[in-house]
This record gives sequence, structure tokens and C-alpha cells, in this order.
Amino acid sequence: MLTKSLRVLALVCSTRPGALGPAVGEWLTETLATRAAELGVEVEPVALAYLNLPFLDEEQEPSSGVYQHEHTRRWSELVAAADGFIVVTPEYNYGMPATLKNALDYLSREWAWKPIGFVSYGNTSAGTRSVQHAKQVVTALRLVPLGATVAIRIGDAVQDGRLRPDAARDRAAAGLLDELVRVAHALRPMRERAQARPGPLPGSYARTLTADDASQVLVLQRCCWVEEAIVNDLFAIPALHESPEQVREWLADWHTTGLWLDGRLLGMVRTRRDGADWHVGRLAVVPDLRGRGLGRWLLRAAEAGAASGCRRAVLFTGAKSLRNIDLYESEGYRTVGSANPDGTICLTKELPAAQR
Ligand SMILES: Cc1cc2nc3c(=O)[nH]c(=O)nc-3n(C[C@H](O)[C@H](O)[C@H](O)COP(=O)(O)O)c2cc1C
Repeated sequence: MLTKSLRVLALVCSTRPGALGPAVGEWLTETLATRAAELGVEVEPVALAYLNLPFLDEEQEPSSGVYQHEHTRRWSELVAAADGFIVVTPEYNYGMPATLKNALDYLSREWAWKPIGFVSYGNTSAGTRSVQHAKQVVTALRLVPLGATVAIRIGDAVQDGRLRPDAARDRAAAGLLDELVRVAHALRPMRERAQARPGPLPGSYARTLTADDASQVLVLQRCCWVEEAIVNDLFAIPALHESPEQVREWLADWHTTGLWLDGRLLGMVRTRRDGADWHVGRLAVVPDLRGRGLGRWLLRAAEAGAASGCRRAVLFTGAKSLRNIDLYESEGYRTVGSANPDGTICLTKELPAAQR
């Protein structure tokens, strides 16, 4: 799969014995199984009843991220690792259940910039007042509520404590998941930016690339190394020919830093230790942003990340890639030996003693 996989928590909110909530949660995860697999989404059911969260008992405010209690740390890890939420909620006295409000109040930044959809149930209102109530609260946490909802009228839908089959309701649930996935992808840059190291352009940020980023890396490589191929009159350049699978494989083997802006991969560099050498490679910047210092910034970031014990940085570039060579030389690299049979030259730079 070339798109990034997502993790969605289906939060079942009611905690009272014999509640209808677990049956609604079961229907939801079962009905979404096929669609979730198609979309590359993992839907994990989480019953608030099993979290055993007491009424908020942390001394520090949630925005501090300082958690004294194990139950808070567990909840924090679960929410932080999720990309979005589907809340399965009853309506209690025209509002959301206190369990949901309490679970929301426990945390802060873990919720930020993630979509939240609602499956509600109730009597005449089908739980919709509970959803309206919750929507108002979740926006304070920078959760992004979805327009798509599933609202279940208990009198029409429930028989013997189970939900009757209903194709329209199944479609509504799939529609909710579709919308959630689209919004989760769209919000990813907002989430990442909040956690990542700032980059050299306003709003840009750097983060480690994973196999999930293979599609963006593939596009960046192909657009960047065409120019290299032309300049060097050489088309047997791996970066131009690699398959998505090959990109995924090397992303797993190298430490790769990507520079991002609003969901676009602007540049990258990969590094790996080989004995006392710190190998730097695949330094790339999108053509429309060349000459703005991004390559230099990435190169310095790559060197700064050198593993302890490495004595020199080593990189390869096309023997005729004069623009690249100029950059490397201006950063202290020197050519070693003559051109290799594959048309590349090797450049090295002593790493500062403090880094070794
Ligand atoms: C404390 C409480 C308050 C309720 N208030 C409402 C309400 O405001 N609107 C409504 O449609 N149903 C209301 N109901 C009925 C619930 O919709 C129904 O009991 C449902 O099964 C509750 O979900 P649960 O079984 O998962 O707890 C209320 C039920 C309880 C226990």
C-alpha cells in the first residue's frame, strides 16, 4: 500500500451494566471491517468501561502533559497513537455521557488535529443532541468533528439488545469512515508540525521518513534525478528506476530526514553508518525551491545526526553534477580519487571532533 496507514479508535462510551453501547460498538467494527481493510485503516474498539478512568484526578492541567497516574499515561499513549476517533455514544439527559466528557478532559495535545466522528443512539432524537453537545466541547481540544454521522433510533433499530440488519445504516457507517480517513490525511501536516522540528522555510518542518512515505519519496526522486541524468548523460541512476517496493525497503534501512510544508515533501536526505564513515545520500530538493538554502539545511542536519564514533561524512554525486559539487565543497567536502565506473565521484569531510 502506498498511502499511509491509519489507526482509528472506536470509543464506546457507556459504562453501565447491560448498556446498549457495546452492541452498537460491535456492529460498527464488524460493518467497517471490509471498508477499513480497503482504506488501510485499523479500527480498534476501546470501551471506556475498561479504561477505568476515575473522575479526573491529575494535579497538573492536561496541557502540561505531566501525568501522575498510570491510568492517565495509558490513556494518553492510546490517544496519542491514534489518527482519528469514532465515538459510539448514547444521549443522557440531552447531552453527552459524563464518561465521554471525563475521558476528553483527561488529555490535551494528544487529541489535537485529529478527526472525530460520531455514532449516536437514543430515543426520539437518536442521540443527536448528545453529538451536538460533544461537538462543541471537542473543538476546544482541536479535534475536528466530522459532518458525516450515524444516528440510531433505538425503537426502530434494536431488537433483543442487538441491532437489526440495516443496509442504509451500514452505508452511513462506511461513509463516516471514508470522511474520517480523508480528513485524517488532510490534517496530518497539522499534527506533524505540532510535534516536529521546524525547518528553514516558514511553516516547514522536518521529520524522520518511514516506509509509509514511500510514495512521496518516489515522486521526489524521479523529479530530482531527471536533471542529474541529463547533466551526467547517464540514465542508469538507481533513484530514477527504483520501484515503490525498493523505496520502502531502503527507507527501512536508512535514517531519512524529510522536509515538509503543508503535506508536501520538499526535500530529503538519508544517512547510515558504515564503520567510522557516516554515509550521506539522496540529498534532494524539489526543483521549484532550489537556491533557498534547503539542500544546505538538510546536509547540515544529516551531519549533525552522525552516530558517535564516526570520523568522516561520505557522499557520492554525479561526476558532472557541478551544482551539487559546489554545494558540497562550500560545506567543506573534498573529492576523493577519480570518477567511479558508474559515473559518480566520492566526496568526504572530516566530522568535528566533538561529534565523534
Ligand atoms: C441517565 C440516562 C439518561 C437518558 N437520557 C436520554 C435522553 O436525553 N435522550 C434519549 O433519547 N434517551 C435517553 N436515555 C435513554 C437511552 O437512550 C437508552 O437508555 C440507551 O440505551 C442508553 O445507552 P446505553 O444503554 O449505552 O447506556 C437516557 C438513559 C439514561 C440511562
